[in-house]
Amino acid sequence: MYTQALNVKEEATAASDPKLEARFQAHVDAELKIEPNDWMPEAYRKTLTRQISQHAHSEIVGMLPEGNWITRAPTLRRKAALLAKVQDEGGHGLYLYSAAETLGTSREQMFDQLLSGKAKYSSIFNYPTLTWADIGAIGWLVDGAAIMNQIPLCRCSYGPYARAMIRICKEESFHQRQGYEIMMTLARGTPEQKAMAQDALNRWWWPSVMMFGPSDKESQHSDVTMRWKIKRFSNDDLRQKFVDATVPQGHFIGLEFPDPDLKFNEKTKHWDFGAIDWSELKRVIAGDGPCNKQRMKQRRTAHDEGRWVREAALAYAEKRRNREVAAKVAAE
Ligand code: 3HC
Repeated sequence: MYTQALNVKEEATAASDPKLEARFQAHVDAELKIEPNDWMPEAYRKTLTRQISQHAHSEIVGMLPEGNWITRAPTLRRKAALLAKVQDEGGHGLYLYSAAETLGTSREQMFDQLLSGKAKYSSIFNYPTLTWADIGAIGWLVDGAAIMNQIPLCRCSYGPYARAMIRICKEESFHQRQGYEIMMTLARGTPEQKAMAQDALNRWWWPSVMMFGPSDKESQHSDVTMRWKIKRFSNDDLRQKFVDATVPQGHFIGLEFPDPDLKFNEKTKHWDFGAIDWSELKRVIAGDGPCNKQRMKQRRTAHDEGRWVREAALAYAEKRRNREVAAKVAAE
């Protein structure tokens, strides 16, 4: 919707103009939005395209682990909510691809990057959903972490991304609540149901804590993206906010976190937590998580099997266009 008349070429030639860069930074510092046709440093365009497309890929790959449970949801009500949630994730992917397209990269290019394995998507979606409780844990923890990370993105300096995030965050809040409600129901159910909820928490806790990315010391992009007000908080700050918000929720429903070092620190008023296994995050990002291969295979199959739909939609659009032209000519 935004892709017409973008000034990509002109901007590229003016990429390293210090005066334009200073004006750009002043605009950002004044909390004004950068819009698609505004001048922007090429590095800003590049890092935003990277972040937004990775985010879009995460949304559509994220449909897979939960889609796995639509046919097995325990009741009609649970099935309807899960169906709506998975559809929402597909919609989030579409808004985000549209926002990224405004920066001059086409959706086809972004898809090629995902399907060829060049582009990243969130590590969290490379873990399996083994029981129904995993659907609760994903909503509570994964969507909870996503909200913590994404609410500040509603204030991102790039207008189309910030605006897309407003609706996405409203929907993510519903996702988080439906997940927590599933966990609460299981935790207050039979001993077997409670054990299932505890097992899901045990398996999803650390991968959710890792979702926020490498530590601030290791983060490659945070300094510059915070200066450009794309990111508003560092990875570690967001991670701490997530832990602080989530631990009391888990304790409230009688669950224990799989971290013997988790302790409330009276001095800092934050929850201290144990060491993160960064080697696991690196391995999963590099393609060696439990489900990386399966997820990519499913996405490639969906892309191939959807080819006829894309071709039919294009043929139909062309037919309509031709009819409109013919009607115009006949009326003249
Ligand atoms: N999974 C995969 N890759 C990750 C990662 C993770 N959890 N965390 C970091 N990385 C990658 C980065 O993409 C970067 O790789 P690149 O240079 O090839 O792009 C590298 O590790 C170094 O990390 P940085 O901290 O320097 O990277 P960023 O500054 O981009 O921070 C981020 C990473 C916090 C994920 C940031 O990109 C971000 O906020 N993105 C927008 C939100 C998003 O994409 N969330 C993903 C989950 S979406 C979701 O959960 C859907 C919902 O429906 C549940």
